[in-house]
Amino acid sequence: MCTVSPRVRVRFVRVVLALGLATSACSGVQSALSPAGLEAERVATLFWWMTGGALLTWAAVLALALVCVRADPSRRTPSRDRLLIVGAGIVVPVAVLTALLIGGLAMLPAVTVRAPDARLQITVVGEQWWWRVRYDTPGAPPVALANEIRIPVGERVQFVLESDNVIHSFWIPSLAGKIDMIPGRRTFLSLLATEAGRYRGVCAEYCGTAHALMAFDVHVMDRPSFDEWLAQQAMPAQAPSDPLGKEGQALFGAVGCSGCHRVGGSDATGDIGPDLTHIASRDSLAAGVLPNHESSLVRWLTETDTVKPDVHMPAFGMLPQASLRALVAYLNSLQ
Ligand code: CUA
Repeated sequence: MCTVSPRVRVRFVRVVLALGLATSACSGVQSALSPAGLEAERVATLFWWMTGGALLTWAAVLALALVCVRADPSRRTPSRDRLLIVGAGIVVPVAVLTALLIGGLAMLPAVTVRAPDARLQITVVGEQWWWRVRYDTPGAPPVALANEIRIPVGERVQFVLESDNVIHSFWIPSLAGKIDMIPGRRTFLSLLATEAGRYRGVCAEYCGTAHALMAFDVHVMDRPSFDEWLAQQAMPAQAPSDPLGKEGQALFGAVGCSGCHRVGGSDATGDIGPDLTHIASRDSLAAGVLPNHESSLVRWLTETDTVKPDVHMPAFGMLPQASLRALVAYLNSLQ
Protein backbone atom coordinates (compact mmCIF):
# COMPACT_ATOMS: atom_id res chain seq x y z
CA MET A 1 0.00 0.00 0.00
CA CYS A 2 1.21 3.45 -0.85
CA THR A 3 1.91 5.71 2.17
CA VAL A 4 2.46 9.44 1.87
CA SER A 5 4.88 11.09 4.31
CA PRO A 6 3.81 14.32 6.10
CA ARG A 7 6.58 16.19 4.22
CA VAL A 8 5.19 15.14 0.84
CA ARG A 9 1.69 16.12 1.99
CA VAL A 10 2.92 19.63 2.98
CA ARG A 11 4.59 20.01 -0.40
CA PHE A 12 1.40 18.91 -2.16
CA VAL A 13 -0.64 21.51 -0.25
CA ARG A 14 1.93 24.20 -1.18
CA VAL A 15 1.74 23.28 -4.85
CA VAL A 16 -2.08 23.42 -4.78
CA LEU A 17 -1.95 26.85 -3.05
CA ALA A 18 0.60 28.14 -5.60
CA LEU A 19 -1.58 26.91 -8.47
CA GLY A 20 -4.60 28.61 -6.88
CA LEU A 21 -2.71 31.91 -6.62
CA ALA A 22 -1.42 31.56 -10.17
CA THR A 23 -4.86 30.92 -11.65
CA SER A 24 -6.42 33.76 -9.62
CA ALA A 25 -4.33 36.08 -11.84
CA CYS A 26 -6.08 34.69 -14.94
CA SER A 27 -8.90 37.24 -14.92
CA GLY A 28 -9.06 41.02 -14.87
CA VAL A 29 -8.48 43.86 -17.32
CA GLN A 30 -5.18 42.56 -18.61
CA SER A 31 -5.47 38.81 -19.06
CA ALA A 32 -5.01 36.77 -22.22
CA LEU A 33 -6.83 33.95 -20.41
CA SER A 34 -9.96 36.02 -19.92
CA PRO A 35 -10.61 36.92 -23.58
CA ALA A 36 -13.04 39.64 -24.65
CA GLY A 37 -12.16 39.58 -28.34
CA LEU A 38 -12.25 37.12 -31.23
CA GLU A 39 -8.46 37.01 -31.66
CA ALA A 40 -7.84 36.74 -27.90
CA GLU A 41 -10.28 33.78 -27.77
CA ARG A 42 -8.19 31.99 -30.40
CA VAL A 43 -4.97 32.75 -28.55
CA ALA A 44 -6.50 31.46 -25.29
CA THR A 45 -7.76 28.29 -27.01
CA LEU A 46 -4.28 27.67 -28.42
CA PHE A 47 -2.78 28.27 -24.97
CA TRP A 48 -5.03 25.65 -23.32
CA TRP A 49 -4.34 23.08 -26.06
CA MET A 50 -0.59 23.73 -25.69
CA THR A 51 -0.86 23.40 -21.90
CA GLY A 52 -2.82 20.13 -22.26
CA GLY A 53 -0.24 18.79 -24.72
CA ALA A 54 2.63 19.79 -22.46
CA LEU A 55 0.95 18.04 -19.50
CA LEU A 56 0.37 14.90 -21.57
CA THR A 57 4.03 14.78 -22.66
CA TRP A 58 5.17 15.48 -19.11
CA ALA A 59 2.93 12.71 -17.73
CA ALA A 60 4.25 10.21 -20.30
CA VAL A 61 7.89 11.01 -19.54
CA LEU A 62 7.21 10.99 -15.78
CA ALA A 63 5.44 7.62 -16.02
CA LEU A 64 8.43 6.26 -17.91
CA ALA A 65 10.80 7.52 -15.21
CA LEU A 66 8.63 5.98 -12.45
CA VAL A 67 8.52 2.63 -14.23
CA CYS A 68 12.32 2.69 -14.56
CA VAL A 69 12.77 3.40 -10.84
CA ARG A 70 9.96 1.31 -9.34
CA ALA A 71 9.56 -1.71 -11.64
CA ASP A 72 10.45 -5.12 -10.29
CA PRO A 73 13.82 -5.96 -11.96
CA SER A 74 12.91 -9.68 -12.10
CA ARG A 75 9.91 -8.89 -14.37
CA ARG A 76 11.88 -6.68 -16.80
CA THR A 77 12.83 -7.95 -20.23
CA PRO A 78 14.86 -6.08 -22.90
CA SER A 79 11.91 -6.05 -25.34
CA ARG A 80 9.47 -4.63 -22.73
CA ASP A 81 12.01 -1.93 -21.78
CA ARG A 82 12.49 -1.00 -25.44
CA LEU A 83 8.74 -0.81 -25.98
CA LEU A 84 8.33 1.50 -22.97
CA ILE A 85 11.15 3.83 -23.99
CA VAL A 86 10.05 4.03 -27.61
CA GLY A 87 6.36 4.37 -26.64
CA ALA A 88 6.38 6.83 -23.74
CA GLY A 89 9.71 8.52 -24.51
CA ILE A 90 9.45 8.97 -28.29
CA VAL A 91 6.06 8.10 -29.82
CA VAL A 92 3.84 9.98 -27.34
CA PRO A 93 5.91 13.25 -27.30
CA VAL A 94 6.38 13.24 -31.10
CA ALA A 95 2.66 12.60 -31.72
CA VAL A 96 1.56 15.26 -29.21
CA LEU A 97 4.04 17.91 -30.38
CA THR A 98 3.28 17.28 -34.07
CA ALA A 99 -0.46 17.61 -33.44
CA LEU A 100 0.11 20.87 -31.51
CA LEU A 101 2.38 22.27 -34.25
CA ILE A 102 -0.16 21.51 -36.99
CA GLY A 103 -3.04 22.89 -34.88
CA GLY A 104 -1.06 26.05 -34.02
CA LEU A 105 -0.03 26.72 -37.63
CA ALA A 106 -3.59 26.16 -38.85
CA MET A 107 -4.80 28.78 -36.38
CA LEU A 108 -2.30 31.46 -37.52
CA PRO A 109 -4.27 32.81 -40.52
CA ALA A 110 -7.30 33.22 -38.26
CA VAL A 111 -5.43 35.73 -36.09
CA THR A 112 -5.65 38.35 -38.82
CA VAL A 113 -3.27 41.28 -39.02
CA ARG A 114 -4.66 43.19 -42.03
CA ALA A 115 -8.25 44.28 -42.44
CA PRO A 116 -8.33 46.75 -45.34
CA ASP A 117 -12.11 47.13 -45.22
CA ALA A 118 -12.29 47.87 -41.48
CA ARG A 119 -14.48 50.92 -40.87
CA LEU A 120 -12.15 52.25 -38.19
CA GLN A 121 -8.40 52.75 -38.52
CA ILE A 122 -6.32 53.85 -35.54
CA THR A 123 -2.64 54.76 -35.76
CA VAL A 124 -0.63 54.18 -32.61
CA VAL A 125 2.98 55.32 -32.28
CA GLY A 126 5.20 53.88 -29.55
CA GLU A 127 7.03 56.71 -27.76
CA GLN A 128 9.46 56.68 -24.82
CA TRP A 129 7.38 55.83 -22.77
CA TRP A 130 3.83 56.49 -23.82
CA TRP A 131 1.46 55.92 -26.73
CA ARG A 132 0.56 58.51 -29.37
CA VAL A 133 -2.92 57.71 -30.72
CA ARG A 134 -4.55 59.08 -33.89
CA TYR A 135 -7.99 58.39 -35.36
CA ASP A 136 -8.31 59.11 -39.08
CA THR A 137 -11.94 58.70 -40.03
CA PRO A 138 -12.85 59.51 -43.65
CA GLY A 139 -14.99 62.64 -43.75
CA ALA A 140 -14.29 63.58 -40.12
CA PRO A 141 -11.54 65.67 -38.51
CA PRO A 142 -8.57 63.65 -37.19
CA VAL A 143 -8.47 63.03 -33.47
CA ALA A 144 -5.22 62.98 -31.51
CA LEU A 145 -4.88 61.71 -27.97
CA ALA A 146 -2.52 59.70 -25.83
CA ASN A 147 -2.51 56.55 -23.74
CA GLU A 148 -6.18 55.81 -24.26
CA ILE A 149 -7.95 53.93 -27.03
CA ARG A 150 -11.68 53.54 -27.45
CA ILE A 151 -13.28 51.20 -29.95
CA PRO A 152 -16.80 50.04 -30.75
CA VAL A 153 -17.86 46.53 -29.69
CA GLY A 154 -18.53 43.91 -32.37
CA GLU A 155 -16.69 45.78 -35.16
CA ARG A 156 -13.37 44.99 -36.78
CA VAL A 157 -10.73 47.64 -36.09
CA GLN A 158 -7.45 48.10 -37.94
CA PHE A 159 -4.44 49.31 -35.97
CA VAL A 160 -1.48 50.81 -37.85
CA LEU A 161 1.57 50.69 -35.60
CA GLU A 162 4.71 52.79 -35.76
CA SER A 163 7.74 53.83 -33.72
CA ASP A 164 10.39 56.46 -34.38
CA ASN A 165 12.67 55.51 -31.49
CA VAL A 166 13.14 51.91 -30.34
CA ILE A 167 11.15 48.70 -30.75
CA HIS A 168 7.98 48.56 -28.65
CA SER A 169 5.30 45.90 -28.75
CA PHE A 170 1.59 46.67 -28.83
CA TRP A 171 -0.48 44.28 -26.74
CA ILE A 172 -4.02 44.35 -25.36
CA PRO A 173 -4.03 40.85 -23.79
CA SER A 174 -7.80 40.66 -23.33
CA LEU A 175 -8.49 41.53 -26.98
CA ALA A 176 -5.80 40.14 -29.29
CA GLY A 177 -2.25 38.95 -29.76
CA LYS A 178 0.74 41.28 -29.78
CA ILE A 179 2.88 42.78 -32.51
CA ASP A 180 6.13 44.76 -32.54
CA MET A 181 6.30 48.46 -33.43
CA ILE A 182 9.49 48.78 -35.42
CA PRO A 183 11.28 52.07 -36.25
CA GLY A 184 11.16 52.77 -39.99
CA ARG A 185 8.36 50.28 -40.62
CA ARG A 186 4.62 50.01 -40.25
CA THR A 187 3.08 46.95 -38.72
CA PHE A 188 -0.58 46.06 -38.60
CA LEU A 189 -2.94 44.40 -36.18
CA SER A 190 -6.65 44.00 -36.51
CA LEU A 191 -9.05 42.88 -33.83
CA LEU A 192 -12.71 42.47 -33.07
CA ALA A 193 -13.80 43.06 -29.48
CA THR A 194 -16.75 40.91 -28.45
CA GLU A 195 -17.45 42.31 -24.96
CA ALA A 196 -17.85 45.92 -23.92
CA GLY A 197 -15.73 46.96 -20.97
CA ARG A 198 -12.50 48.53 -19.83
CA TYR A 199 -9.22 46.77 -20.55
CA ARG A 200 -5.52 47.51 -20.25
CA GLY A 201 -2.86 47.48 -22.92
CA VAL A 202 0.86 47.20 -22.32
CA CYS A 203 4.21 47.29 -24.07
CA ALA A 204 5.46 43.73 -24.46
CA GLU A 205 9.01 44.42 -25.63
CA TYR A 206 11.72 45.78 -23.31
CA CYS A 207 12.28 49.33 -24.59
CA GLY A 208 14.21 51.12 -21.85
CA THR A 209 14.07 52.18 -18.21
CA ALA A 210 10.35 52.88 -18.06
CA HIS A 211 9.25 49.91 -20.22
CA ALA A 212 7.06 48.59 -17.41
CA LEU A 213 5.54 52.06 -16.91
CA MET A 214 4.05 52.32 -20.37
CA ALA A 215 0.44 51.14 -20.37
CA PHE A 216 -2.79 52.39 -21.89
CA ASP A 217 -6.48 52.22 -21.17
CA VAL A 218 -8.82 50.58 -23.65
CA HIS A 219 -12.58 51.13 -23.63
CA VAL A 220 -14.82 48.90 -25.71
CA MET A 221 -18.17 50.65 -26.04
CA ASP A 222 -21.40 50.48 -28.02
CA ARG A 223 -21.38 52.34 -31.38
CA PRO A 224 -23.54 55.34 -30.33
CA SER A 225 -21.40 56.00 -27.19
CA PHE A 226 -18.25 55.60 -29.28
CA ASP A 227 -19.48 58.08 -31.93
CA GLU A 228 -20.36 60.56 -29.20
CA TRP A 229 -16.95 60.18 -27.59
CA LEU A 230 -15.07 60.54 -30.89
CA ALA A 231 -17.05 63.67 -31.83
CA GLN A 232 -16.25 65.16 -28.42
CA GLN A 233 -12.55 64.33 -28.80
CA ALA A 234 -12.50 66.09 -32.19
CA MET A 235 -13.67 69.35 -30.64
CA PRO A 236 -11.12 71.98 -29.56
CA ALA A 237 -10.67 72.51 -25.82
CA GLN A 238 -13.01 74.96 -24.11
CA ALA A 239 -11.08 77.97 -22.76
CA PRO A 240 -11.32 78.05 -18.94
CA SER A 241 -13.84 80.50 -17.54
CA ASP A 242 -12.68 80.72 -13.91
CA PRO A 243 -9.76 82.98 -12.86
CA LEU A 244 -7.64 80.08 -11.51
CA GLY A 245 -8.02 78.14 -14.76
CA LYS A 246 -7.17 81.25 -16.79
CA GLU A 247 -4.06 81.78 -14.67
CA GLY A 248 -3.14 78.13 -15.25
CA GLN A 249 -3.54 78.52 -19.01
CA ALA A 250 -1.18 81.53 -18.99
CA LEU A 251 1.33 79.56 -16.90
CA PHE A 252 1.04 76.60 -19.31
CA GLY A 253 2.59 78.86 -21.94
CA ALA A 254 4.93 80.81 -19.61
CA VAL A 255 6.68 77.84 -18.00
CA GLY A 256 7.12 76.01 -21.32
CA CYS A 257 4.44 73.25 -21.25
CA SER A 258 3.09 74.48 -24.58
CA GLY A 259 6.46 73.86 -26.22
CA CYS A 260 5.92 70.10 -25.89
CA HIS A 261 2.15 69.68 -25.56
CA ARG A 262 -0.72 70.59 -27.83
CA VAL A 263 -4.07 71.78 -26.53
CA GLY A 264 -6.46 72.06 -29.51
CA GLY A 265 -8.05 75.50 -29.86
CA SER A 266 -5.28 77.25 -27.88
CA ASP A 267 -1.79 78.62 -28.61
CA ALA A 268 -0.23 75.39 -27.29
CA THR A 269 0.92 73.51 -30.37
CA GLY A 270 3.85 71.38 -29.08
CA ASP A 271 4.16 67.94 -30.61
CA ILE A 272 6.88 66.30 -28.50
CA GLY A 273 4.72 65.08 -25.61
CA PRO A 274 1.13 63.82 -25.37
CA ASP A 275 -1.74 65.87 -26.80
CA LEU A 276 -3.57 67.30 -23.78
CA THR A 277 -6.69 68.72 -25.49
CA HIS A 278 -9.01 66.45 -23.47
CA ILE A 279 -6.65 65.16 -20.78
CA ALA A 280 -9.27 65.52 -18.04
CA SER A 281 -11.49 62.96 -19.79
CA ARG A 282 -8.86 60.21 -19.59
CA ASP A 283 -8.66 57.44 -17.01
CA SER A 284 -5.00 57.71 -16.13
CA LEU A 285 -1.92 59.89 -16.25
CA ALA A 286 1.63 59.20 -17.40
CA ALA A 287 0.63 56.21 -19.57
CA GLY A 288 -1.37 54.19 -17.07
CA VAL A 289 0.92 54.91 -14.11
CA LEU A 290 -1.30 57.21 -12.00
CA PRO A 291 -5.07 57.53 -11.71
CA ASN A 292 -6.29 60.82 -13.20
CA HIS A 293 -6.91 62.76 -9.95
CA GLU A 294 -5.97 66.25 -8.85
CA SER A 295 -3.44 64.93 -6.32
CA SER A 296 -1.78 62.62 -8.82
CA LEU A 297 -1.55 65.49 -11.33
CA VAL A 298 0.40 67.49 -8.73
CA ARG A 299 2.58 64.46 -8.05
CA TRP A 300 3.26 63.97 -11.76
CA LEU A 301 4.17 67.64 -12.26
CA THR A 302 6.51 67.78 -9.25
CA GLU A 303 7.99 64.26 -9.03
CA THR A 304 8.00 63.41 -12.71
CA ASP A 305 11.27 61.48 -12.80
CA THR A 306 10.48 59.61 -9.58
CA VAL A 307 7.12 58.49 -10.94
CA LYS A 308 8.69 57.52 -14.28
CA PRO A 309 12.51 57.21 -14.27
CA ASP A 310 14.31 58.63 -17.33
CA VAL A 311 11.16 60.35 -18.59
CA HIS A 312 11.84 63.17 -21.08
CA MET A 313 9.53 65.64 -19.30
CA PRO A 314 11.31 67.75 -16.65
CA ALA A 315 9.87 67.97 -13.11
CA PHE A 316 8.27 71.29 -12.14
CA GLY A 317 8.79 70.98 -8.36
CA MET A 318 10.35 74.45 -8.31
CA LEU A 319 6.99 76.10 -9.02
CA PRO A 320 5.21 77.72 -6.04
CA GLN A 321 2.14 75.89 -4.71
CA ALA A 322 -0.18 78.59 -6.05
CA SER A 323 1.16 78.14 -9.58
CA LEU A 324 0.79 74.36 -9.33
CA ARG A 325 -2.82 74.78 -8.19
CA ALA A 326 -3.51 77.03 -11.18
CA LEU A 327 -1.88 74.60 -13.64
CA VAL A 328 -3.87 71.69 -12.21
CA ALA A 329 -7.09 73.74 -12.41
CA TYR A 330 -6.38 74.41 -16.09
CA LEU A 331 -5.56 70.79 -16.90
CA ASN A 332 -8.67 69.63 -15.04
CA SER A 333 -10.78 71.96 -17.15
CA LEU A 334 -9.68 70.17 -20.34
CA GLN A 335 -12.65 67.79 -20.43
CU1 CUA B 1 7.76 50.29 -24.96
CU2 CUA B 1 8.51 48.42 -23.71
